[in-house]
Amino acid sequence: MNFRTIIEPFRIKSVEAVKFTTREEREAALAAAGNNVFLLRAEDVLIDLLTDSGTGAMSSLQWSAVMRGDESYAGSRSYYRFEAVVRDLTGFRHIIPTHQGRAAERILFHTTLKAGDIVPNNNHFDTTRANIEVEGAEARDLVVAEGRRPALVHPFKGNVDLRALEELLVEEGDRVPLVMVTVTNNSGGGQPVSMENLRGVRALCDRYGKPFFLDACRFAENAYFIKRREAGYADRTPKSIAQEIFSLADGCTMSAKKDGLANIGGFLAMNDDAWAVAARNLLILTEGFPTYGGLAGYDLEAIAQGLEEVTEEAYLRYRIRSTEYLGDKLIEAGVPIIRPAGGHAIYVDARDLLPHVPPLAYPGISFVNGLYLEAGIRSVEIGTVMFGLHPDGTETPATMDLVRLAIPRRVYTQSHVDYVAEAVIEVARRRAELGGYRIVTAPAVLRHFTARFEKLR
Ligand code: F0G
Repeated sequence: MNFRTIIEPFRIKSVEAVKFTTREEREAALAAAGNNVFLLRAEDVLIDLLTDSGTGAMSSLQWSAVMRGDESYAGSRSYYRFEAVVRDLTGFRHIIPTHQGRAAERILFHTTLKAGDIVPNNNHFDTTRANIEVEGAEARDLVVAEGRRPALVHPFKGNVDLRALEELLVEEGDRVPLVMVTVTNNSGGGQPVSMENLRGVRALCDRYGKPFFLDACRFAENAYFIKRREAGYADRTPKSIAQEIFSLADGCTMSAKKDGLANIGGFLAMNDDAWAVAARNLLILTEGFPTYGGLAGYDLEAIAQGLEEVTEEAYLRYRIRSTEYLGDKLIEAGVPIIRPAGGHAIYVDARDLLPHVPPLAYPGISFVNGLYLEAGIRSVEIGTVMFGLHPDGTETPATMDLVRLAIPRRVYTQSHVDYVAEAVIEVARRRAELGGYRIVTAPAVLRHFTARFEKLR
């Protein structure tokens, strides 16, 4: 059909009411939460763009798959369905369910890293970085230079700087047990990695004898970007592009809470037999037996069904366009965002927007809190609070101070998004009223989740 309007490729069968609050109620809620939106009660949020992780709406087919869940401790039918779907998609020999992505990361890194190792990536996500650092190893970001320039438009800003990767492998290769690439690159703005770049990483891993693992949380969105932007892929199905992506790697970590279209779950997959034995042994210790890995049988069913739906072209066209639609509105109004729009989120450049708030006064937190107070919208800082504290206790500004507006899958309609755009534009217009913050209390790792903040005078 040749109409311009891209519609939601579903109709709504069940709804959940959202609660409207007054400004005074939001002020009280945020104060009680120590000015950290992670500590709010979700019911005090009108539109929740904190994350696209586990927040999607499952389909009627997923809910009916839930009823088919086989809860046998060992060898459950649901595991075999899950395994078949993941194997068809990824081709990996060993498929190990985990309760979510970070459990897969912990198992992979705990069984393969030692102190002093280095794990390169385009950009490590926070849990990936933390799971590497907790082993005494270093998480090194090697995204291309274009990926560090928010306003620059480039089709594949998630690409790995292959020259920097080769330099690392030449100079410190004995400290690199594996190479990772995150598709799409969440911390770098939800930007895709091209197939050509993934082939380049594969070639370097072959040359230097290193295993190549994908952080595959948003593989389907990445596949769709390749279809739209990379020569030779326009006529391919997203699924066949995804299969090609996985075929280049030796394994992956996956949070099924994103492109698994499920509310919980994940997996670790790989070809190496010895690594898989070590991973399964640790899995049994902390997650569960290898045919459920911390999940219920019904979760495995929901993920299997979700992985089949997520590569549907009508879904991905709507998904990528609806994120871009929000981006277009903000760009048109002059709000600085990472361009082009990411797959799962729009990232406002808070450092650029709030030049009067220095990075160590957390411009991202300032904008996040301003947006919540103004409109009841919850977003998240991806900046100096998330990445600025180092294992040695020092603090420096992160590469960027961003505010992510993550779009849950199949949850909000176009009018919700119109409301979000209107609110963001209004808060940006009144930016002079937004001030900085300081941290009152925070833990030593992953401090953004539980830190408490105080407004600077
Ligand atoms: N890798 C990436 C790229 C992620 O975005 C996430 C989670 C993980 C790994 C960890 O997966 O949450 O299932 O343990 N990202 C969420 C977010 C939390 O909001 O971006 P998990």
